[in-house]
Amino acid sequence: MTSANNNPAGQNLVEQSRDGDILVLTIQNPPVNAFGPGVPEGLHAGLDVAEGDEGVRAVVIIGGGRTFVAGADIKTFDLPREQAPDVRGVIDRLDAFSKPTVAAIHGTALGGGLELALACTYRVAVESARLGLPEVKLGVLPGAGGTQRLPRVVGAQKALEMMLSGNPVKAGEAETLGLVDEVVDGDLLQGAVAFARAHTDVTPLPRISERQVEGASPELFAQAKAGLEKTHKGQYSPALIVDLAEMATRTPFVDGYAEEGRQFVQAKDSPQSRGLRHLFFAEREAGKIAGIGKDTPQTEIKSAGIIGAGTMGGGIAMNFLNVGLPVTIVETTQEALDRGLGVIRKNYENTAKKGRMSLDDVEKRMGLLTPTLSMDDLKDADIIIEAVFENMDVKKEIFTKLDAVAKPGAILASNTSTLDVNEIASATTRPESVIGLHFFSPANVMRLLEIVRADKTSDSVLATGMALAKRIGKVGVVVGVCDGFVGNRMVHRYGDEARKLVEEGARPQDADAAMHALGLPMGPFEMSDMAGLDVGYLIRQHQAKVAGQPKPDGWLDRIVEGGRKGQKTQAGIYDYPDGRKPVPSASTDELLNTYRQEKGLQSREVGQDEATKRLTYSLVNEGAQILDDGIAQRAGDIDVIYVYGYGFPAYRGGPMGYADEQGLKNVVADLEKYGQTPAPLLKRLADEGKTFGQYDKEKASAQA
Ligand code: CAA
Repeated sequence: MTSANNNPAGQNLVEQSRDGDILVLTIQNPPVNAFGPGVPEGLHAGLDVAEGDEGVRAVVIIGGGRTFVAGADIKTFDLPREQAPDVRGVIDRLDAFSKPTVAAIHGTALGGGLELALACTYRVAVESARLGLPEVKLGVLPGAGGTQRLPRVVGAQKALEMMLSGNPVKAGEAETLGLVDEVVDGDLLQGAVAFARAHTDVTPLPRISERQVEGASPELFAQAKAGLEKTHKGQYSPALIVDLAEMATRTPFVDGYAEEGRQFVQAKDSPQSRGLRHLFFAEREAGKIAGIGKDTPQTEIKSAGIIGAGTMGGGIAMNFLNVGLPVTIVETTQEALDRGLGVIRKNYENTAKKGRMSLDDVEKRMGLLTPTLSMDDLKDADIIIEAVFENMDVKKEIFTKLDAVAKPGAILASNTSTLDVNEIASATTRPESVIGLHFFSPANVMRLLEIVRADKTSDSVLATGMALAKRIGKVGVVVGVCDGFVGNRMVHRYGDEARKLVEEGARPQDADAAMHALGLPMGPFEMSDMAGLDVGYLIRQHQAKVAGQPKPDGWLDRIVEGGRKGQKTQAGIYDYPDGRKPVPSASTDELLNTYRQEKGLQSREVGQDEATKRLTYSLVNEGAQILDDGIAQRAGDIDVIYVYGYGFPAYRGGPMGYADEQGLKNVVADLEKYGQTPAPLLKRLADEGKTFGQYDKEKASAQA
């Protein structure tokens, strides 16, 4: 039934065993039993046995190891069709199979895994199992019958909800929805075998493909489509999912299924899906540090200390409280402490008001928090994070005190966003224990954590930092010490280019619109207004003074000097008549006109395409230099940072993934055309006809 090409190594990753009249097929493709080469073949071989042996009255399909099948093997998506695993072939065979088949689910049944289960006659699961169709997160759609079978089981509305969010449901809910026939208490295999045995005489066998969809109305699909503008703006596959679910309500199964197959292939081959898949793997790679294995000893973190109860300190504290870790939080005055605690409580109470947490949970979390005015109270903390304002002298003073107070082996972390962590570490007698943990604001929400490895940071401290990031639900990415690390260093270059665009004649709103066009929620100037224009202003003034240069007099400096510091003063590059929403400002236009005249600048029309390229490629160019400087381990790490920390759309693959998609030769040509000098690494890769993706792979294999 399968072509030898689909499985060149001739693997069979499915074990067969017998429990009396039940044939058990155990899929063994660790770590997540993805539907890769060898799985369809193994299932076919098992079904051949079941078909040919009258003594077999039913089949149980189960996953070996930690999970049922977690989906199609994403690594095979780029293979030519004839080499890709024949997932649909085995699913078709199961749908038509003459004996009862039971999917026994633990861990996760996701994507092709749930589709496999839906093609079986029955599904049983342990309580902890989760079932879902997350394909939308990879820019594709369920491609092995999911769009046609799920609505036939759970109804159109719930199916849309599951397929558009991509989020799984727990076994209990799945049972209520009819997606699972029985939640097994105790041993899954035994329960599944017993269930199968109890259903050997059922005739005719129920088949989901023969059911009708319930709860569908044309309005439902129209509403779902309209909602995509908000939830999946600019994305390609969600609308296809809605159309296919709608098709399930009015066409025979075979027609919808055939259409699903065609659309899946198109979606899979789209740049959006390539971008999202790149991010999926980049996120997982980012967790790996060259030379630091899984066996690197780690410090056990049972409690944390935080210095500073301001916006950052409070947000950071919440991450720890959320996972049940006690936090001692230090401030310099009772007033600041009370204010900080008040904000944390209010945040939790707001979450409770939205029904996402009970009031009991609010109290439990607040109960884990110990406020204090004394650094001595940090003596038992396993990790201490300093989150005070960005001033080297203040930070060094704090670290000297910490050195005296903290217990041996405690991790001493700074939440600096730009400062030299080596210098901070030099204020202690234990620089090996010092690390940078750069949280992004709001720290309780943003998933990115830049983990700054200073020269003397020990492997154990770094490994603990990475594990801690995962524990508190962050995506940790290791970065080296330099001004601004990865994210902010790139933002500086991006900001410079945005200012230049305006000097040349673009309006700030045009530069922002150029990035909206790529799918970023905010452009460079909206972002600067939100962050506060005074921060950059003070840095520019300070740097000029130190360098003995004249006082900077850019158009942005003039805006700040006019008292417009951004959103916080209700006026910046934009006006903020309602407090938050930026509105193009006549005052800025006037200032720019005067500025251009005074400086004798020639204004010209800057097209959107030019603006998008110049801004995006300034990020890419700096990213390439960061990579060459060894500040980031991989181009993929830079993409993860930019997607999780700065809103670059994942479906564009992050800036470096986007550049790969455009072709590095084209990126270099555009940079040169617009007067930027391509970074040497970027130029070299372009000359060699390579991509950042290849660079990452080659580096990884050289390190292996
Ligand atoms: N294909 C290939 N590799 C996969 C994979 C998949 N579907 N799912 C996970 N992996 C790999 C990861 O890359 C990782 O590899 P490394 O150890 O080499 O980095 C390893 O399996 C473990 O994964 P995680 O680190 O993510 O482990 P976890 O325990 O934190 O999470 C998981 C497990 C929930 C299954 C998570 O990996 C996940 O969400 N996977 C993706 C599931 C998915 O999207 N499935 C749908 C695929 S598309 C499809 O099925 C199309 C169709 O309709 C036919």
